[in-house]
Amino acid sequence: AAADHPQDKPRTAPAHIGFAFDIDGVLLKGRKVLHQATRSLSLLNDKKVPYILLTNGGGVTEARKAEDLSAKLGVSIRPEQVVLSHSPMRELAARYADKLVLVVGSDSCKDVALSYGFTRPVLPAEVFAWNPAMWPFKSSEGIQARPLGRRSLLEDRMSCSLLTHRRPPLQPCTIDFTREPISAVLVFNDSRDWGRDIQIIIDLMRSKGGFLATESDRSEPQSLPLYFSNSDLIWANDYPVNRFAQGAFRLALETLYEASRGRLRCELTDGQRLVYTKFGKPEHATYKFATRMLHDHAKSLWPNETLPCRTVYAVGDNPASDIHGANKHGWESILVRTGVWRESHGHDHGAGHVVHDVEEAVHLVLKKEH
Ligand code: G3P
Ligand code: MG
Repeated sequence: AAADHPQDKPRTAPAHIGFAFDIDGVLLKGRKVLHQATRSLSLLNDKKVPYILLTNGGGVTEARKAEDLSAKLGVSIRPEQVVLSHSPMRELAARYADKLVLVVGSDSCKDVALSYGFTRPVLPAEVFAWNPAMWPFKSSEGIQARPLGRRSLLEDRMSCSLLTHRRPPLQPCTIDFTREPISAVLVFNDSRDWGRDIQIIIDLMRSKGGFLATESDRSEPQSLPLYFSNSDLIWANDYPVNRFAQGAFRLALETLYEASRGRLRCELTDGQRLVYTKFGKPEHATYKFATRMLHDHAKSLWPNETLPCRTVYAVGDNPASDIHGANKHGWESILVRTGVWRESHGHDHGAGHVVHDVEEAVHLVLKKEH
C-alpha cells in the first residue's frame, strides 16, 4: 500500500480537488473500522483537503452520524461533511407541512424526520400499535435473547447499531388512523420488520386517500406518493457474505404490491405498477445535494479559492451506486476491493481506477494532483 512508501506522499495539498467517500465497505465493515480509513482521513484533515462522506446508509441525524464516526475513526468529522441517503429528502418537508407521513426505518428515523422539518412523522411501530391485528405475526414475541459467547445476541445487535446513545422509548401514539390520513410514505432506512412494513405500505398505497383500514378499487391508481432513500440491492458489513439492503426491500414490496393489483406481472397496466421516487447514490438529486455540501465545506476551508473542488474523486465499493453515480455526474470514480465488489463479479461500471483500499485511493489522487 502507498502508506508503506512515505517518500511517495505529496508535499502540499491541492485546493482544487475534493473527495466523496462512501462509508460502508470503504471506511467501515459493520462494527469494524478499517484502519486505512483513519490514516487517510487524518492525512486529508492535516492537508485541509475538502471531503464529504456520501453514504446510502442513514437512520440517524447527520450530527449523530458525524459524532459517531468521529469517535469510531478517531478523526474530526463535521455534520456538514455527512450526506446520508435521506439527507436530500429534507427538501420534501415543506410539501408535507402539518401532514402525517409514514417514515420507515429505525425508531430514530422519527428524530431525523423532525430535524428536517416534517412536523407529523409516524413510524410503522406506531401504526402497528394502533391496531396489532394488521400484522398478527410478530415472530420475536416471547423469545429471550440467547447467549453468544460472552455476549447475548441482543447485546451484539445493539453494538452493531450506529447509536451509541440509546433513544428513549416511543411515547404511545393517540392518532386514529381511520380518521386522519397519512399523506406519503418515506423509506428513510432499512425496514426493521419487512413483513409488517410491506403490509402497512401496501395497505396505504391501496387505501382510500391514506385512511387506514379502507380499500380503494383495484382499478384506481396508487393512493399515496412513495419515496425511497436508496436503491442498493446489497451492502457489505462484517458478515462474510454481502447482505440485502433497501433495494431488496423495495423489490419485495413492489412484487407484492403488483401481485395484489393483477394476478401476473404481464397482466399489469402502467396504472397498476408501483410508482415511487428514489434518492441516494446513483440518483441525480443526491449528487446535486452532495456537490453543494462539498463546495460549501471547501469554501469554509479555503475561503479565497474561487473554484474549489473542480475535480471530485468518489471512492466507493459498490459499482452500481458509487461508481455508476460518480461517472454519471462527472466525478472521477475509484473502486475499492474492501466492500461488496469482487473481481469475480466482473462488471465494475467503468471505474476510473480499481485499488485495494481507501488509503491507496487517497495516495493515488494526491500523487496525481501534486
Ligand atoms: O445500502 C446500505 C448502506 O449501508 C450502504 O452504505 O456507505 O456503502 O453507501 P454505503
Ligand atoms: Mg459502500
